[in-house]
Amino acid sequence: MHDLTGPAPALFSWEFASDPYPAYAWLREHDPVHWTTLPSGVEAWLVTRYDDARQALADQRLSKNPARHGSDKTGIPGERRAGLMTHLLNIDPPDHTRLRRLVSKAFTPRRVEEFAPRVQQLTDDLIDQFIDRGEADLIHEFAFPLPIYAICDLLGVPREDQDDFRDWAGVMIHHGKGPRGGVAKAVKKMRGYLAELIHRKRNDLGDDLISGLIRASDHGEHLTENEAAAMAFILLFAGFETTVNLIGNGTYALLTHPEQRAQLAADPALLPGAVEELLRYDGPVELATWRFAAEELELGGRTIRAGDPVLVVLAAADRDPSRFPDPDLLDLARTDNQHLGYGHGIHYCLGAPLARLEGRAAIGTLLRRIPDLRLAADPSELRWRGGLIMRGLRTLPVEFSTL
Ligand code: HEM
Repeated sequence: MHDLTGPAPALFSWEFASDPYPAYAWLREHDPVHWTTLPSGVEAWLVTRYDDARQALADQRLSKNPARHGSDKTGIPGERRAGLMTHLLNIDPPDHTRLRRLVSKAFTPRRVEEFAPRVQQLTDDLIDQFIDRGEADLIHEFAFPLPIYAICDLLGVPREDQDDFRDWAGVMIHHGKGPRGGVAKAVKKMRGYLAELIHRKRNDLGDDLISGLIRASDHGEHLTENEAAAMAFILLFAGFETTVNLIGNGTYALLTHPEQRAQLAADPALLPGAVEELLRYDGPVELATWRFAAEELELGGRTIRAGDPVLVVLAAADRDPSRFPDPDLLDLARTDNQHLGYGHGIHYCLGAPLARLEGRAAIGTLLRRIPDLRLAADPSELRWRGGLIMRGLRTLPVEFSTL
């Protein structure tokens, strides 16, 4: 249990990055819709209770369009107003409805289902590369490469170009060797590459997702070339760091809860529910992406003024005791697990079927192939990336016996 009687805990400190849950428990109890100053200097509301969070995610008076805020300080890349950033997570209906309908025609559950053998092969190939060594860093060698190669394959990025993508993506989430200031450069390179790839595919359609995006039409409407590039970019971006952290945070939670892990190893039928519980317990998306009040509204007893930024804290909502009994307990057999890890409402994660596929393949295969996987560091030595939206480990050192 967290101490709910003391003073308000500091937000955004070093301790907070490694374990934000006590601070969120305090906020849920004492100030559930909390006005705060973010490390960037921007002021915003943090919404921490489950019911308020669910309501806010579905409330269309909370716009995704950053122009509603009129500030450049939201920490969102400066390219925001450029073409690549006019993607699903930055727009409202009716544009959002049109683009989401078009992409849903190409990114179908069937396409994801057919992709399952490829994800399994990628997973096994990555494990093959370290399984004889007896130790590995599961972030760099497993959780990081798996989603980027998977998305590249799905989109139709040729294999010979995928390592470039891996490097750009690495710079973008500060995993790679590149300097921090290299982020804008990496985005620019990715944009140039995607524009060229889409252009090329237009004349030579295949059965990959980019070709599907080009082909998709609705009442005679198609995605423009720029819309297709922005869509490919958001699929890559939304589907990458999230999945890295699902695999990283999920594996870490299993390694630190041996009895739960043993239960899962003994009964693989628990796997789908277990991945949902890992998402609820310590999901990759700590805060849903930005929303801005298009008009004044009431939320959890507070008045949100027009233009105010609102951040829905998924990690806090998913530990709300009024919704989840024993919320701080990892219970892989938990039922009635309507967590908000993939969001809610019209912006509900488009890639959830793919994320589930990758999460199950990665975690299920690791447990099966390396039954004595152990953490090779004290949990207090592990470093968490202190990003605002995402929650994830920088490294996850493990050891195991080799045959
Ligand atoms: C939206 C979580 C993986 C594509 C979202 C949102 C969340 C989320 C919380 C809503 C954000 C908001 O309302 O502000 C996750 C998690 C993942 C994951 C936890 C992995 C475990 C993926 C993957 C893809 C993807 C693999 C695609 C390949 C998207 C897209 C949106 C989205 C395109 C925007 C949808 C819209 O605005 O209509 N995701 N995601 N995500 N996600 Fe995911």
